[in-house]
Amino acid sequence: MLNFKTIEYDSQNNQIIILDQTKLPEKEIYVNLKTVKDVYNAIMTLKVRGAPLIGVVAAYGIVLSAGKNNNTRKILKDAEYLKSARPTAVNLAWAINRMIEIVKNKKNQNLYRDLLAEARRIEKEDKDACKNIGLWGAKLIKNGFKIMVHCNAGALATSGIGTALGILYTAKSMGKKFKVYSCETRPILQGARLTTWELTRNSIETLLICDNMAATYMPEMDLVLVGADRIALNGDVANKIGTRGLAIIARYYRVPFYVAAPISSFDFGIESGTEIPIEFRSADEIRYFNKQCIVAEKTKICNPAFDVTPNALLSGIITEKGILRPPFKKKIVSLK
Ligand code: MRU
Repeated sequence: MLNFKTIEYDSQNNQIIILDQTKLPEKEIYVNLKTVKDVYNAIMTLKVRGAPLIGVVAAYGIVLSAGKNNNTRKILKDAEYLKSARPTAVNLAWAINRMIEIVKNKKNQNLYRDLLAEARRIEKEDKDACKNIGLWGAKLIKNGFKIMVHCNAGALATSGIGTALGILYTAKSMGKKFKVYSCETRPILQGARLTTWELTRNSIETLLICDNMAATYMPEMDLVLVGADRIALNGDVANKIGTRGLAIIARYYRVPFYVAAPISSFDFGIESGTEIPIEFRSADEIRYFNKQCIVAEKTKICNPAFDVTPNALLSGIITEKGILRPPFKKKIVSLK
């Protein structure tokens, strides 16, 4: 079904091959990451993006580090460096912490081989999680549904079929017919550039709307599906900026609002969304559109990349283990 690969590890040459998402939809270009610095830059500049995918890529980044040196102190230093590439998606620290556990395990015979095996497990678990989220989530979709999505929580954001969009692929494979409304997702247009690219390539009827059209179309919707970068114990969800606004509009029009996320996106160490670190990105992402400056000189700009949606606005959270319904706390704790 999916005719592209977001990530591949080339063990012969100890390099990671990624699809450069900054070039989509114009060009489908694969680039090789050969050093830990390449991996850091690819994550930081959003060549690879989406919470689960950056976790998988970072795990292979630790394999690259081990392939270049046998010094565990250097590998641990690289691990901390990679963790700092983006702060909000908890999958990044989660995947790297798993790799650190392997580095610290004194029983290692061959560190490189053991790290490679762990990175492969993380990738496989991600693929399986996407598949199961798809199966649970597809139960919510009925023939004729109109579904709004935001940002890109698709195959491009994972190593598998995606989370929110994985549900759509699964529903389609079951023969269900529906229409998708994709918000463009300013400032850097993951919805317009990436979601429409992957959905139309997979023959899912998709209509692109500007973010400020969401309230206009919401009364027609049957469902809103979004991904997550970090979920707190009480069910508060950090996701791409604009998600909170959609949730508020959906509640007003009584449209079910679901978050799709693997267990690797839950942060069991924080009680609520107020503790989630929000990434602020360069003002240039807003100042320039298509390399053209679109604002008056000296304009001050705010650019938070994520917002937090309060758990009270969620109809449910679709995980690989099933759909969690409010109140969330006990159900989230039991996923641990
Ligand atoms: O800044 P991005 O493009 O990495 O943001 C991605 C999102 O907000 C996704 O919705 C989230 O990571 C879930 S991806 C399955």
